[in-house]
Amino acid sequence: MKILIANKAHAKYAETICDTIAESAKVRGTGIARRTPEYIITKMENGNAIIALDGDNFAGFCYIEVWGHDKFVANSGLIVSPDYRNQGLAKDIKKAIFEHSQNKYPGAKIFGITTGLAVMKINYELGYQPVTFSELTDDESFWKGCQTCKNYDILTRTERKMCLCTGMLYDPNKKKEEKPRHESFNEKTYRRLKSIKQTLFYKKDKESN
Ligand SMILES: CC(C)(COP(=O)(O)OP(=O)(O)OC[C@H]1O[C@@H](n2cnc3c(N)ncnc32)[C@H](O)[C@@H]1OP(=O)(O)O)[C@@H](O)C(=O)NCCC(=O)NCCS
Repeated sequence: MKILIANKAHAKYAETICDTIAESAKVRGTGIARRTPEYIITKMENGNAIIALDGDNFAGFCYIEVWGHDKFVANSGLIVSPDYRNQGLAKDIKKAIFEHSQNKYPGAKIFGITTGLAVMKINYELGYQPVTFSELTDDESFWKGCQTCKNYDILTRTERKMCLCTGMLYDPNKKKEEKPRHESFNEKTYRRLKSIKQTLFYKKDKESN
């Protein structure tokens, strides 16, 4: 398995990447910000993506988005092809894009929003902390990316304060010795939080219909 900084030679995988992201979101039944192959290709051409290849076969992908004049960097669109899941590949891709982000955008805060427990767990191990949305970028174009998510009405209804996603942030300016309050990621807590949010927000949906 090769994990590489993607370039324009990888453009041929863009369609597969978009299809895999869309199909996985359908299977999970969760919302996802949709991306076009053109958008993915631009990320590759700008050296802002990591791709995992098993020979010529697409195995995984993740890209960087830059917001708030380089102050914030998001590692988004993580996808592992179903054939390669549960082998630690997402962890390796996230680690590679995390290091690449720090090298390319030194000093930037790195963040993500996700409903995925696997992603939360990986982020936590990399040093991210869960935060409220107000600690993330206020760059309008980042939040516009959520418009294609099926839960977008929740985000607008809460005036961008919360949604089904959890915000997670890595702040390179926080002293290394500042230990997180909890030593390990508590999956049970996040499952419960997700379920509470779903009940709360989806119920409101029904009532307002
Ligand atoms: C989520 C996804 C990227 C995980 O990829 P993967 O290569 O199977 O993940 P890894 O093998 O690196 O697993 C990393 C950790 O997450 C855990 N994990 C993996 N899938 C999980 C799931 N569905 N639920 C909870 N934990 C999960 C693993 O057990 C592992 O934990 P460990 O370190 O304690 O063993 C992959 O399933 C995928 O592409 N899903 C569809 C797209 C998606 O959900 N993307 C995230 C959008 S926010």
